[in-house]
Amino acid sequence: MGSKPKVVLGVSGGIAAYKACELLRRLTESGHEVRVVPTESSLNFVGEATWAALSGNPASTEVWETVHEVPHVRIGQGADLVVVAPATADLLAKAAHGLADDLLTNTLLTARCPVVFAPAMHTEMWEHPATQENVATLRRRGALVIEPAVGRLTGKDTGKGRLPDPEEIFEVCRHVLRRSGQGRGITESDLAGRHVVISAGGTREPLDPVRFLGNRSSGKQGYALARTAVARGARVTLIAANTALPDPAGADVVRVGTALQLREAVLKAAADADAVVMAAAVADFRPVAYAAGKIKKQDGQEPAPVDLTRNPDVLAEISAHRARPGQVVVGFAAETDDVLANGRSKLLRKGCDLLVVNEVGERKTFGSEENEAVILSIDGTETPVPYGPKEALADLLWDQVAPRL
Ligand code: CTP
Repeated sequence: MGSKPKVVLGVSGGIAAYKACELLRRLTESGHEVRVVPTESSLNFVGEATWAALSGNPASTEVWETVHEVPHVRIGQGADLVVVAPATADLLAKAAHGLADDLLTNTLLTARCPVVFAPAMHTEMWEHPATQENVATLRRRGALVIEPAVGRLTGKDTGKGRLPDPEEIFEVCRHVLRRSGQGRGITESDLAGRHVVISAGGTREPLDPVRFLGNRSSGKQGYALARTAVARGARVTLIAANTALPDPAGADVVRVGTALQLREAVLKAAADADAVVMAAAVADFRPVAYAAGKIKKQDGQEPAPVDLTRNPDVLAEISAHRARPGQVVVGFAAETDDVLANGRSKLLRKGCDLLVVNEVGERKTFGSEENEAVILSIDGTETPVPYGPKEALADLLWDQVAPRL
């Protein structure tokens, strides 16, 4: 084991600063050496003592403390990752323009490692052209700026501008560190500027207000694809069918229930997408009739049969009618027998560019954290993905998608 990865956690002055405590805790508990660099105004929300105690390191705001150690240069130079959470509109503006009037902004200028910004502010401030241009500038220079989440803001208003869940910001950091550790720096964010649409989970086809036909897909593979795509710089729309997982940081999450709702959401999002990945388990059939009231059992009577009808095949449809020239379409298939042969014929039948074939069976059950698969490509290549975390499969898939874009 080498030394612990060195992370600088920059905290700027927004109410979401308290959430950075949880991010810090996750970073330290998973073996990172963290130095917190708060801005002066952020100390109105969380005090220096909290950062020092949680990180085990001094937390100073100014370049004038411990000057003999030249902190304004040393901290940035020595970092493996700088993450600023929350990043206010003011901090983003300073970073975009190279201002350096405190320790955090100096650190951002001296860092040569990946830099992640997790902005949080009111919707108006986020949408202001000044902020949007600063964000674009930072992204162009290779920084990863995570899209804020939509939800409750300070006070009573809701909208875009919330800091994503700290555990999800942590996941982005972990990913970026892992990739830069493999020599793929953040400046090589190969999905930067791309819009990717991912469907995840399993659809439910209602029979009556309380019952449905469904499947056991947890959505974990689709969420892993969303997380990894965010960490590689993509704008991500995640169409989530009946999942119970936290929203991945930076992804725009659209919730759906049935196959028809999923189709509508995917087609809408795919209109300007560079890639569409259909990881969701979409029901092939739905009940013909929906009972508006709960279906009751009748004494002494056999149950009425359930008549089913075919759902549209979303993957085949988007493959046949690409919303953009060169749009990359990826499907998933679960097979129990003749995995490769079935996969190859399904790839041709669906008309997609890549098909991830899973063998389902023992140990490879729905809901697990691991997966094993083969990525089949329309040009005939076959890439085996060894048994491992769903995120490893996700990264291997993006490795195949990125050069096709
Ligand atoms: N899919 C879809 N629309 C459907 C059914 C499936 O878009 N109505 C997509 C899934 O998201 C997945 C792929 O198609 O990417 C799976 O194909 P499918 O033919 O459903 O595979 P299996 O479920 O394995 O079905 P079968 O082997 O019975 O054909």
